[in-house]
Amino acid sequence: MTMNILKFGGMITLVSAFTFMSCHKMGEGNKETARAVIEKSFTFPISTPMVMDATNASFAAKSSIANIGGQSVNTLSYGNGGILGPTLKINQGDVMNLVFTNELSEPTNIHWHGLEAPAVQDGYPTDLTQAGNSYTYNFRVVDRPGTYWYHPHPDMATASQAYRGLAGFFIVTSPEEQALNLPQGIYDVPLVIQDKRLAGGLVYNPDTDDKTIGYFGESVLVNGTSGAVMDVETRTYRFRLLNGSNARMYNFALSDGLKFKLIGSDGGLLDVPADISKILLAPGERADVLINFGSMPVGTELFMESASFSGSSSQGSQSFKIMKFKIIKDVIDNFIVPTTLMPVVKISESSSLASRKFNIGHMMAHGGMDGVMHPIDGKTFDANRRDEVVKSGSVEVWEFDNTAGTEIHPMHLHGLQFQVLKRTGGRGLIQPWEKGWKDTILAFPGEKVKIIIRFPENKGKFVFHCHNLEHEDAGMMLNFEIQ
Ligand code: C2O
Ligand code: CU
Ligand code: CU
Repeated sequence: MTMNILKFGGMITLVSAFTFMSCHKMGEGNKETARAVIEKSFTFPISTPMVMDATNASFAAKSSIANIGGQSVNTLSYGNGGILGPTLKINQGDVMNLVFTNELSEPTNIHWHGLEAPAVQDGYPTDLTQAGNSYTYNFRVVDRPGTYWYHPHPDMATASQAYRGLAGFFIVTSPEEQALNLPQGIYDVPLVIQDKRLAGGLVYNPDTDDKTIGYFGESVLVNGTSGAVMDVETRTYRFRLLNGSNARMYNFALSDGLKFKLIGSDGGLLDVPADISKILLAPGERADVLINFGSMPVGTELFMESASFSGSSSQGSQSFKIMKFKIIKDVIDNFIVPTTLMPVVKISESSSLASRKFNIGHMMAHGGMDGVMHPIDGKTFDANRRDEVVKSGSVEVWEFDNTAGTEIHPMHLHGLQFQVLKRTGGRGLIQPWEKGWKDTILAFPGEKVKIIIRFPENKGKFVFHCHNLEHEDAGMMLNFEIQ
């Protein structure tokens, strides 16, 4: 895409570019597609992040070196070196305490994606820990048992820092969850899927196309491993899938069309398991699944893949393998999938005090040489503005309208979990993994998605934004203040 630079009287200005010109409607502009994935030979044993007790944790963000696909690559990491960070674990109701040190050469912070964190602990884009400084994250974790995650959130640098390796799992459990006897220990496996450009190391240098559709890599990493293989036994495993990519979506499936059980979404367990053969996750979204390898003879190899999908002009046309499972041991497994999991109490629509609509389908505005901006309701992020003011404890219905859009937007709200009421246009329905609690909801071009929110008691300013990290950093983020 080369024709999108708008010049105003010879000057290229950011402000005047807010004329929402549509490069797509201007012609050639809609040809950007995601960089294709190059499949690996799946020979590298998958790595598993170390587990750290979140009630008594400490680590630093720092520059590291990781071996990825046999190559030594400059990365960022939390704590251990390599890439990514430890998996923080906590019991629901306990107080997390993390002494965090910034050993990077740039400001950073940590956002607790999905957790009901107090505003000052939530990694607001301008609440930063300067290089060399420390900050203690300390709050009670009230969230349902489930798979949450953490990553940096500095204004206009989230994409860069997350891409270079900063992210980790945050897992909440409870006696109620333990009583379900789901697979535990080495049979409960978090998997973060991220695409990277490995040539030249993890350098983040998006061009105009990347800023428009997202920064895509040709290599798909699982837990930081490129070409990952995992040895498994003939039994049921719990996998916690996290799409931790900047922009790529995955339509998770198993290679032989094998069905699996969906048991959880962004905000923990569903009320009942669902049989499923595909799960489409956008950046930021999670799904907990059970895969039973019990019927497969030792020696069998199968793949977790991303099946092709439609609805987006920039991605979905390619299907590719993500990782390999190899059955290496025959065991007796008495596990029975529970018929019910954990109640998902519906928020009633009649309790809603207000409804708000957001137009996320504006075309890009372009300013500066490659200053692609992605607005919500015509606005881009401003930390000094209060875009929406809501009342703590109150219920509202919000709608994200991508009717006029040409790109996918996974919309994410900080500091809470919501429920999905309705999707119109496009796929026209609520997917099985959208029936539980969610913090990120995908809107394809042509879709409107309605969610219902009960705002938490935590007062203060939070953000909501598109979790395509290039869109987020290009302004597709607004504030809501809970009063
Ligand atoms: Cu994972 Cu503001 O997001
Ligand atoms: Cu978040
Ligand atoms: Cu977006």
